[in-house]
Amino acid sequence: MARFKFIMCAFCMIVVMAHGQQHGPEALPTLGVNWGLLSTNPINPHVVVKMLQENAIKKVKIFDTDPWILGAFSGTDIEVMVGIPNDQLGKISGDMDEAEDWVKNNVSKHLHDGGVNIRYVSVGNEAFLKAYNGSFIKTTFPAMENIHKALNNAGLGDKIKVTSALNADVYDTSSDKPSGGHFRKDIYDVMKQIVKFLDETNSPFLVNIYPFLSLYQNDNFPKDYAFFDSTSRTITDNNKQYSNVFDANLDTLAWALTKAGHPKVSIMIGEIGWPTDGNKHATIDNAKRFYRGFLKKWAGKKGSPLRPEPMVAYLFSLIDENTKSVAPGNFERHWGMFHYDGKPKFPIDLSGKDHEEMLVGAKGIRYLEQQWCVLSKDIKNMSSVGPAVSYACASGDCTSLGPGCSCEKLNVVGNASFAFNQFFQNNAQDVEACDFDGLATIVKKDPSPSDGSCMFPIQIYSGGTMLRGGAYMVKGFLIGFVLVFITFI
Ligand SMILES: *[C@@H]1O[C@H](CO)[C@@H](O)[C@H](O)[C@H]1NC(C)=O
Ligand SMILES: *[C@@H]1O[C@H](CO)[C@@H](O)[C@H](O)[C@H]1NC(C)=O
Ligand SMILES: *[C@@H]1O[C@H](CO)[C@@H](O)[C@H](O)[C@H]1NC(C)=O
Ligand SMILES: *[C@@H]1O[C@H](CO)[C@@H](O)[C@H](O)[C@H]1NC(C)=O
Repeated sequence: MARFKFIMCAFCMIVVMAHGQQHGPEALPTLGVNWGLLSTNPINPHVVVKMLQENAIKKVKIFDTDPWILGAFSGTDIEVMVGIPNDQLGKISGDMDEAEDWVKNNVSKHLHDGGVNIRYVSVGNEAFLKAYNGSFIKTTFPAMENIHKALNNAGLGDKIKVTSALNADVYDTSSDKPSGGHFRKDIYDVMKQIVKFLDETNSPFLVNIYPFLSLYQNDNFPKDYAFFDSTSRTITDNNKQYSNVFDANLDTLAWALTKAGHPKVSIMIGEIGWPTDGNKHATIDNAKRFYRGFLKKWAGKKGSPLRPEPMVAYLFSLIDENTKSVAPGNFERHWGMFHYDGKPKFPIDLSGKDHEEMLVGAKGIRYLEQQWCVLSKDIKNMSSVGPAVSYACASGDCTSLGPGCSCEKLNVVGNASFAFNQFFQNNAQDVEACDFDGLATIVKKDPSPSDGSCMFPIQIYSGGTMLRGGAYMVKGFLIGFVLVFITFI
């Protein structure tokens, strides 16, 4: 169905980014954010960097070394952690020349005067997840070693640390008590090599900890224990008290490090956050509660009972990503503190002082036309609607539909309209993307329910198309001329 063909021609000229000297909110320098770009229509990176600055965010973790993204950090003091995707580990682990090339082309190139403040390389991302069937167990550590050597050879070893972002599933948390912790048996040897390396190179252990997943994966999990504001459940372990799963999880890692013979390795939180849609626990209220508790704790410079020192943490995440894999669950596309269009979702205080307000949103975002695609009113026979919806949802994002999600109240007709609209918007509002064999029609009136719970979005112009289509920066002003012809055949 709907193999379509279209030509879109857009001509635009925008001016954004006046040199803002506003006094933005104050965030402490140890707080960072993760910025992922698995989106059909990513926001222009210069706009995002500006948004980071206006929210006083000084540290960013990205998942690769896309020069388009890194370039936007040039000349800023924002500290950047770059990543090497898992699929490159094999190449880099087996060949020192590849590692040298990688450093030269993806790091050194950006370090000139007025360049990018790169401070960490994460070699692989959650490479030991069980879902990867052990594919990266042999390559991750050798790749870390090679990148470390290559950085040293380039004279960057002191400035740029090598680590690997690991999921908390690398250690066993099945015991309620942190002291029961140890690295997973199937990766014990490689974990031992990695922590020895981190110890010797004075690099942090980077761990992603998700109290949300504890709740999501286990219906009997005591909900309050996922947050930071309750003592309804307290665990005592070796004279330490634990009233939230985050502390318990962190100290399980601390015990695992001790048992592996490297108790002094520092711990940095690579990802922590709470999603806002796609599951009954993924709500704005829960996200607010989680961030409030976490940020307060963090601002109080309180770590966990075993690691009481101030924490360095990267929040997950900055902006929703509508093409992120939903294999772990529909919530995956809703981790952002900002919507897809750079609008803040909820009040939050990044300085942890309980003074919550909306973050500063992205400026200069341009939306497609104010129009939506919905199921036609006069459809009597609904039998062909199901397959059309499935088709729309295969490439449109339908993760807000279903029980416990923001659009759960929609009926069958609303569901179909939502799905059609997602498909239509992601296909640049092409008329032929709103056909569905005559089932769909374009409307100018917003079909979103009036209670504000469920939003039928209008897509934004992709920053990717704009910049790659030929844009240039003139001293803080971005002037984009875009002439785009897209043809799907
Ligand atoms: C990083 O460097 C490698 C090796 O030179 C190169 O093949 C790759 O394209 C670079 N990656 C990016 C994102 O530029
Ligand atoms: C892991 O194994 C499962 C079952 O054998 C398979 O479905 C899946 O595609 C594999 N994943 C990877 C990344 O190899
Ligand atoms: C509805 O459409 C299907 C197939 O398109 C057809 O088999 C069915 O008979 C139709 N039902 C009615 C009530 O017209
Ligand atoms: C709407 O779609 C979702 C997801 O496909 C489904 O779970 C839900 O039951 C649908 N609701 C109705 C009323 O059809």
